[in-house]
Amino acid sequence: MAFEIAGRRALITGASSGIGAALATALAEAGATVGLAARRTPRLQGVLDACLVHSPDSRMWSVDLARPQAADDLAEAARSELGGVDLLVNCAGIPKRRHVTRLDPATVEQVMQVNFLAPVRLTLALLPEMVERGEGRIVNVSSVAATLSSPGEAAYDASKAALSVFSEAMAIDLWDSGVKVMVVYPGVVDTELFQIPDNDPLPAAIEPISVDEVVTAVLEGLHDDAVQVYVPGWFAELASGKAGNVEGFLSGAAEFVRTQGRSPS
Ligand SMILES: NC(=O)c1ccc[n+]([C@@H]2O[C@H](COP(=O)([O-])OP(=O)(O)OC[C@H]3O[C@@H](n4cnc5c(N)ncnc54)[C@H](OP(=O)(O)O)[C@@H]3O)[C@@H](O)[C@H]2O)c1
Repeated sequence: MAFEIAGRRALITGASSGIGAALATALAEAGATVGLAARRTPRLQGVLDACLVHSPDSRMWSVDLARPQAADDLAEAARSELGGVDLLVNCAGIPKRRHVTRLDPATVEQVMQVNFLAPVRLTLALLPEMVERGEGRIVNVSSVAATLSSPGEAAYDASKAALSVFSEAMAIDLWDSGVKVMVVYPGVVDTELFQIPDNDPLPAAIEPISVDEVVTAVLEGLHDDAVQVYVPGWFAELASGKAGNVEGFLSGAAEFVRTQGRSPS
């Protein structure tokens, strides 16, 4: 059954900028009451102000999802201030563009905490109420990096792959419950993600898409009850092509890295 956004309560993490901010604003414009979460309070306030124009009961919470307990606290705040959550959008995430020879375990754990463990914990905290109501939507923002194993991003790729596989297995478990799960696989999107310090530069050949393209695809996916959304859509074919010839895909990726003047090793 198509998901009607108007009148719903949506909780969006990573709502202070980029994809999350644009999605939150679009959901508020479509008539949802939105709850916004991220660390940067002034940025979050700016997004909330834009949402309040359409959706006066919207809220925001400043949370650091690197702190394990934060997801539980956020779920509790959303429960008490929004009255519950019909649509959870796990969008908060951090990049980690760093060659595997320069990765350390603490960095990998930090990326897994924000990109995988926090959305899982938030989901598990809110899921029982959705199941009890027999309705709910969970949208997890993964990345094409999850299925294409982007070079120089092993920790990030793994965190998004974990989120994707968790989401798919959860979708099966919940198939007849009325709670639907959708995984979003954006390619390179023009956001502040590429200005975050302590990351290697993005390969020059990659042309980013706009956040609006991602928002349109997510809204269409919600309408269609899609289980996955690639943006742009042709990445889905690339992912299935890789699955059919992993060795060929990996050697092609190593060649791409060489053409960028970098060494794969
Ligand atoms: N841009 C791309 O090319 C691309 C491609 C594929 C997937 N994605 C995914 O899309 C999602 C949104 O990224 P974006 O591109 O829109 O970049 P962005 O503008 O940097 O957004 C990232 C969001 O995550 C929040 N966040 C980061 N660390 C957090 C923490 N510890 N606690 C709470 N919130 C935190 C940030 O807010 P604060 O800094 O205020 O906390 C921000 O709102 C991410 O999951 C990213 O992995 C992006």
